[in-house]
Amino acid sequence: MPPQNLAQQRLLIKGGTVVNDDCSAVADVYVEDGVVQQVGPNLTPQPPYGLLVLDASNRLVIPGGIDTHTHMQFPFMGTRSKDDFYTGTKVGEQAALAGGTTMIIDFAIPQKGCSLIEAFDTWKSWADPKVCCDYALHVAVTWWSNQVKEEMKSLVQNKGVNSFKMFMAYKDVYMVNDEELYAAFSCCKELGAIAQVHAENGELIAQGAKKMLAMGITGPEGHEMCRPEEVEAEATQRAVTIAHAVNCPLYVVHVMSKSAARVISNARREGKVVYGEPIAASLGTDGTNYWNQDWAHAAAHVMGPPLRPDPSTPGFLMDLLANDDLSVTGTDNCTFDICQKALGKDDFTKIPNGVNGVEDRMSVIWEKGVHSGKMDENRFVAVTSTNAAKVFNLYPKKGRIAVGSDADIVIWDPKATRTISAETHHQANNFNIFEGMVCHGVPVATISRGKVVYEDGTFNVTAGEGKYVSRPPFPPHVYKRVRQREKVCQPVPVKRAPYTDVVSAAPGTPN
Ligand code: URP
Ligand code: ZN
Ligand code: ZN
Repeated sequence: MPPQNLAQQRLLIKGGTVVNDDCSAVADVYVEDGVVQQVGPNLTPQPPYGLLVLDASNRLVIPGGIDTHTHMQFPFMGTRSKDDFYTGTKVGEQAALAGGTTMIIDFAIPQKGCSLIEAFDTWKSWADPKVCCDYALHVAVTWWSNQVKEEMKSLVQNKGVNSFKMFMAYKDVYMVNDEELYAAFSCCKELGAIAQVHAENGELIAQGAKKMLAMGITGPEGHEMCRPEEVEAEATQRAVTIAHAVNCPLYVVHVMSKSAARVISNARREGKVVYGEPIAASLGTDGTNYWNQDWAHAAAHVMGPPLRPDPSTPGFLMDLLANDDLSVTGTDNCTFDICQKALGKDDFTKIPNGVNGVEDRMSVIWEKGVHSGKMDENRFVAVTSTNAAKVFNLYPKKGRIAVGSDADIVIWDPKATRTISAETHHQANNFNIFEGMVCHGVPVATISRGKVVYEDGTFNVTAGEGKYVSRPPFPPHVYKRVRQREKVCQPVPVKRAPYTDVVSAAPGTPN
């Protein structure tokens, strides 16, 4: 008899259509020790015993989703987000796995004046014992000093961090000014990291919020009205300009509006190294919800930047995602239940900002992107997995089904449907912003490093099974152009003979 545990280590996925970002082909996938060993037709791995066989006929076999933007158990706005890395996170992570996501990238966020390395260590200590799928950490730069600069270097060189988020909003809490952005972007470029921005003008938000409250607008609609689209677009343009000035690659997180998306699209067409990340929320719903008569419903949609009241926004963002004006998708999963949202029942500025998404991202994008005819299954893989792997230097270990890749794989049924609901979701909060949405495209089985962790509604995961994934600096996908520009695009002085004629005396100088 074969040893019992071989069944976990050896896996054959038979007869599906293997989809990568550049091609689709009917093929079997053979996995051993968590890694893809063979991809091809009619595989017969030896020995034949001790092999778990999954039938994928009439289904797609796709790389596991990478959610580039989550906040599990985030201490924020006087409370803590509901999905943590175990019960929060067990639930949250299971939700990811149930939705076809096999890796998340969360954020370690220090308070102003505090150590980035300590923040990283704190988040990692929260995640490691609990996490059920692979994860990595972006780190936020919320203030500037020599210490911050040194810590960024150490995080890149010793801790596998290659991305730093700067907030242009949350005045007096996380917001950095243009000088600090310039310094942080310059440092990212030197270290081979990606600069990420939360692009909103924090000063205008502070002024706008005061104005709304003075006008007696205290409900969730005030949250959108105090920070309309141009507040996001202006900050996006400013970040693009500063990043370009120092030749630093820029990644704009949670793109929420048509005008911010246009800024990114224009920058890309001008050849700037800029990436835009719409999220499940901005692709799947809109800001008309803030005007809902039910306060709890409206408050449940509060996030920053806000969803936009123009109902054509999700379709517009999806068009840009299909055409590579926008490149990567996350969720900004940062869930608060209604009682937590009620901290702001009399003042919208106190409603904790954040919405769900980690479980539903893949289905929402399939429904609104692929089922609608805007993108094909290869582009779907690109925007849910491969592009993230390329930008954050995880490729081709992640984001591809090929020999040598991690066996993070989803068996996807493009014809099955499910209806999203808080009644049935696996997330910890009691509200779902996609409530009632019928989605084609359902993950039938999710495989994380070769282990079937979710199949037909049943989980097989243990807390702490997920691994922290180090991300080396200088991702070639991003940095080849940056490095070449560094060599050939430096300004040079004009060579000319020195001026030797009369120089006028400075005003006030005696003749
Ligand atoms: O509303 C949001 N986005 N909450 C999480 C914090 C952030 O800005 O990403
Ligand atoms: Zn943000
Ligand atoms: Zn966020």
